[in-house]
Amino acid sequence: MKNIARLTTEKSALETYLKGQGWLLLNESLNAVEIPGAGNMNLTLRIKTRERSFIIKQSRDYVEKYPQVPAPEKRALREAEFYELIALEDSLSSMMPVLNGVDRINNVLNLEDLGDSRDYSFLYEEGVSLSLEDLKEIIAFISQLHTTVNTATTQATLANVEMRKLNHEHIYNYPYLDDNGLNLDSVLMGLAEIAAPYKNDAVLKAELQKLGNRYLANGTTLLHGDYFPGSWLKTKAGIKIIDPEFCFFGDPEFEMGVTLAHLKMAAQPEALIDSAIDLYTEKGSLDRQLCFKYMAAEILRRILGLAQLPLTLTLAKRKELLEESRSILVRSNH
Ligand SMILES: Nc1ncnc2c1ncn2[C@@H]1O[C@H](COP(=O)(O)OP(=O)(O)OP(=O)(O)O)[C@@H](O)[C@H]1O
Ligand SMILES: [Mg+2]
Repeated sequence: MKNIARLTTEKSALETYLKGQGWLLLNESLNAVEIPGAGNMNLTLRIKTRERSFIIKQSRDYVEKYPQVPAPEKRALREAEFYELIALEDSLSSMMPVLNGVDRINNVLNLEDLGDSRDYSFLYEEGVSLSLEDLKEIIAFISQLHTTVNTATTQATLANVEMRKLNHEHIYNYPYLDDNGLNLDSVLMGLAEIAAPYKNDAVLKAELQKLGNRYLANGTTLLHGDYFPGSWLKTKAGIKIIDPEFCFFGDPEFEMGVTLAHLKMAAQPEALIDSAIDLYTEKGSLDRQLCFKYMAAEILRRILGLAQLPLTLTLAKRKELLEESRSILVRSNH
């Protein structure tokens, strides 16, 4: 069996690896290695030489931050396929880093460095609202993606089944397990008590299971798959979109539903949420009922599940969002 290079921040080994890939010239030396921003799943590094910098991202068969947790080893290659599928569409590729190279043996991407930037997680802070200009760009990216890369325009498939199964577990199953080992009171005191009835809610769970099966079925439309503030970067050159490692062909309503869920959890004004839908439907079509169901499932899992966000919402507000989400899923029961 071939050995996979396990990259680290150690400079001389990195330099040898990068030269072996042809990603550094033979006379070029590595000046600095930095962590460009907070990430959990992968090893993401900024490589600096005297003349330039670029980003490398390696996926391994575990989660970088929690090495005891297994994860699909080849996910960087699925991410690469996404970059390859959007490469010819300027309006999309200009909003993402350029994919400079792919090491398919060691599951490493070489990406354009977008420079010092921060992601949009600051939206979850109190009193921060997204400008209409930023909202337009954020929605334009997905409406353009969904209307240009779909089964009517490409023969390509990108099932990304393993990543979808991982996400499925965390959206539709894990949050509702009685003994999942997560102490919600350590997230916010009182949350465990509020969460308890959701774990015993057979009607809700049946709805979530139906929606989860839909998420696992192949759909028509290429989705980024993890479209939330952590994947939107604020750079000097405007908003850039990164990290499509959960991409797949699915329901566009999933992508919009997730986006809306995060706008709601970031306490954005109702009018902004309505604008998001209007902006999207100028170009793409949307089954609103399905979109709201996906939105509700995302809100539930982010408040009750493992992938917690830096939310500043009070306990009362979280309870309200949970109740609203439950009723969206259960009301549409037919
Ligand atoms: N091309 C880039 N240019 C500049 N910075 C980048 C680039 N790609 C990633 N980063 C920075 O590195 C961070 C982690 O990258 P990314 O989200 O792709 O990794 P990840 O391991 O998939 O993270 P997560 O576990 O949050 O999904 C980003 O939040 C961003 O700050
Ligand atoms: Mg990621």
